[in-house]
Amino acid sequence: MHPETLGCQRDLFDIPENTVFLNCAYMSPLLRQSCTAGIEGLRRKSRPWEITPPDFFATAESVRESAGALLQSSPDNIALIPSASYGLAAAAKNIRMRPGQDIIVLAEEYPSNFYIWQSLAKELKGNLITVSRPTDGDWTSQILNAISETTGLAALPHCHWTDGSLIDLKKIRRALDHTNAGLVLDLTQSLGAMSFDLTTIQPDFAIAAAYKWLLGPYSTGIMYVHPKHHLGHPLELNAFARKDAVDFQNLVAYRDEYQPAARRFDMGEMGNFALLPALLTSLNQLIAWELPRVENTLREINKAICDHGRRTGFDILPEPFRSPHFTGLRFKNDIPSGLIQNLAEQNIFVSARGQSLRVTPHLYNDLDDVDRFFTALSRLL
Ligand SMILES: Cc1ncc(COP(=O)(O)O)c(C=O)c1O
Repeated sequence: MHPETLGCQRDLFDIPENTVFLNCAYMSPLLRQSCTAGIEGLRRKSRPWEITPPDFFATAESVRESAGALLQSSPDNIALIPSASYGLAAAAKNIRMRPGQDIIVLAEEYPSNFYIWQSLAKELKGNLITVSRPTDGDWTSQILNAISETTGLAALPHCHWTDGSLIDLKKIRRALDHTNAGLVLDLTQSLGAMSFDLTTIQPDFAIAAAYKWLLGPYSTGIMYVHPKHHLGHPLELNAFARKDAVDFQNLVAYRDEYQPAARRFDMGEMGNFALLPALLTSLNQLIAWELPRVENTLREINKAICDHGRRTGFDILPEPFRSPHFTGLRFKNDIPSGLIQNLAEQNIFVSARGQSLRVTPHLYNDLDDVDRFFTALSRLL
């Protein structure tokens, strides 16, 4: 094992002994301590007399701090959002494009990062350029080929959600700089599991739903907003995003000014008393583990998955085109029907996405899980 790795952390999760859960890209299990924090948060609502106006903001500020630490960004650049689609819609509202410019998306992209751009391209009478899936796994070259003087925006992930194939965002950034185009990122399938160089990549907006690799509860998410958009237009015009909103008595003194920096983009009721403490606990656990060590550990487990995969007859993407935390076992044709269900009957959980069997471990997995999965898979193929 790489020296900078972590041991198996299964005890921190509530996973039955005979369950092999290799499906973090679908939804991570909640850490035991996040679950406790969430239940305690829900209980607070039984005693509203103990909840004061500053409490509506305090946990949100802590989440902003921790999310900022994970992204190596100031907390001022972080907004709290309920879903990736919400963040992407806010980004679409604020990206400045000229009519007729192109928007670049990937083939077989997750719908939340497709429909919004399809709609914006239509509105601006521009072209939605869909980069086709490369046969050799090299998405980056395909995207670079698609970038031209007419590009107004690239809306990309760090890795493809179906099979983890990697996109070199630093190279994309350099190419976009030549055309002055915007960059919006959906990091839902990468943030928390692989390093992301915000300073070099400089997206306009970077969004992550938190219920996968950030180990958060469902219906939570974070959005990085580049300072150049801090005076932008939020999706909602909610009370708490305005200046001095903590002064409930004077909320009717309507204000034009917002809360500082990216806070104007916070969703309504962002101070969710049940979900935010759970999210905060998860983000802080990731910070305590240290992201490079999480990434190295997941890389080691995925190496074992790739080795087994090759021996089972799958074509595995070469290293530079593969993300560290994610393996796609790609079938030449369709995935045999019933395969996922047959595995689930043996308490082994992976996903089928497009033509790939998506195998996504986390720190609760060990190499025995990988062996059990491939033994079962080999019997079923
Ligand atoms: C790449 C990607 N983005 C976003 C999401 C979730 O999107 P939303 O929060 O809009 O439901 C998923 C869920 O699978 C995903 O894989």
